[in-house]
Amino acid sequence: MKLSEAYDPEAFRALGHQMIDGLADYLTQARDSKMPVLPVVDPTQLRDETPSEFPEDPQGGFAESLLEVVSRSNHLHHPGYVGHQVSVVIPPAILAEMTSALLSNGMAVFEMGQLQTVMERAVVKFLASKLGFPSEADGVLTHGGSLGNFTALLAARQAKAGHDIWTDGHQKPLAVLVSDQSHYCISRTIQAMGWGAGGIVSVPTDDQFRLDPQHLQASLDRARSEGRQVIAVVANSCSTATGSFDPLPPIADFCAANDLWMHVDGAHGASLAFSDKYRGALEGIERADSVVWDLHKMLGLPSLNTAVLFREGERSYESFAQQASYLFDEQANRDEWHNIGLRTMECTKRGLGVTAYTMLRSLGTRVFADKVERLMDLTRDLADILEGEDEFEMACPPEANILCFRHLAEVDDLNAHQVAIRQQVLERGNFYLVQTKLGDATWLRVTIMNPFTTMSHFWDLVEEIREVGE
Ligand SMILES: Cc1ncc(COP(=O)(O)O)c(C=O)c1O
Repeated sequence: MKLSEAYDPEAFRALGHQMIDGLADYLTQARDSKMPVLPVVDPTQLRDETPSEFPEDPQGGFAESLLEVVSRSNHLHHPGYVGHQVSVVIPPAILAEMTSALLSNGMAVFEMGQLQTVMERAVVKFLASKLGFPSEADGVLTHGGSLGNFTALLAARQAKAGHDIWTDGHQKPLAVLVSDQSHYCISRTIQAMGWGAGGIVSVPTDDQFRLDPQHLQASLDRARSEGRQVIAVVANSCSTATGSFDPLPPIADFCAANDLWMHVDGAHGASLAFSDKYRGALEGIERADSVVWDLHKMLGLPSLNTAVLFREGERSYESFAQQASYLFDEQANRDEWHNIGLRTMECTKRGLGVTAYTMLRSLGTRVFADKVERLMDLTRDLADILEGEDEFEMACPPEANILCFRHLAEVDDLNAHQVAIRQQVLERGNFYLVQTKLGDATWLRVTIMNPFTTMSHFWDLVEEIREVGE
């Protein structure tokens, strides 16, 4: 292909029409359950079937290849998708992503994303206000909750180490108090910062998998007796495995009494802030120093799109204290809100704020509240069904749109029984669910992400598990 053809706007228009038609048809078919949720395939077989040479001349149609990717994917818009905690994307959002991809404005400095930067700021301020943060709150958008938690904990380190750790490096081994139910990205962050496994001080949880604040003092004392300087507590709103919300008011009191940074990993559950009915689970979040909030989970934005929010906006400059003089004015200081790269790990990032801003403005915020409430209500409906069935046991009542349960049967190995059930359900193609370990026990785990899943799907799921579990 000639270079001029690759850039041709008219060829792009034709391709775009073909793709949008293909995707719209796909959405209809997925919504109407016209395909297995996950087309289960052996990885090696798929590898061997997929051409892996890249000759000089064009090979195959672009749209056809993309639509092949679509057909081979896990279909989140299928109402039988009750798996991982990723968005069932609201379709217009992909057009915002497409526009940002085309513009390729890198967002590190204002000139490379002018309105994009202003939109990001508006979104960040809006989300912060939803949490009850004061007007001076600030933050950034970043590619995912893992990077978001890393960014927040870097700020905690700089703020609480007691010296300029960014410049001088570590003087004393640091540590963070972490619920034993935290997402693995928290321990990864801590170990990546060089604090070793001892930098993670695990705080036990109660029988609902919520951090038990009674154990905070003993955990702090233990870390100190081992020569660690504890700088922060990480709370979950909510935890990944069971969707449990840690009690934030006593955690905030403890942080205040001990001069610790309070970080809330709200990657999944901060979206409850949109709902009058459910935001009670976040009580106390307004006292956090930092909060991470994934917009690509319950809210339905495409992955990845995460807000890292700081109650005191100035703190958002603490994560990355260094300057890159070729990008930022040498006088760069904390008034440079418009050069977002000062505060993000990424140099180049997508126009994340454009997607969030255009969605919030053009759809209005009520639809997001409705979506969150629908997912939460549905999960309670499923819990009611399971409660009425003797063959099923729940790990705990659902606090979010996540539910862990298992099928009880007279078998030698109840854990293996759950694994086998899941595999058979996947192969039937009507549902996609996952599994998790809580202690030594294996549980089936669902996250209700698709607002078009209904009670009748739940009854079908229960029936199907019963059948394959016999
Ligand atoms: C509580 C929590 N924190 C962090 C993450 C990581 O977020 P991401 O996948 O956006 O990196 C997840 C992902 O599921 C999560 O559940």
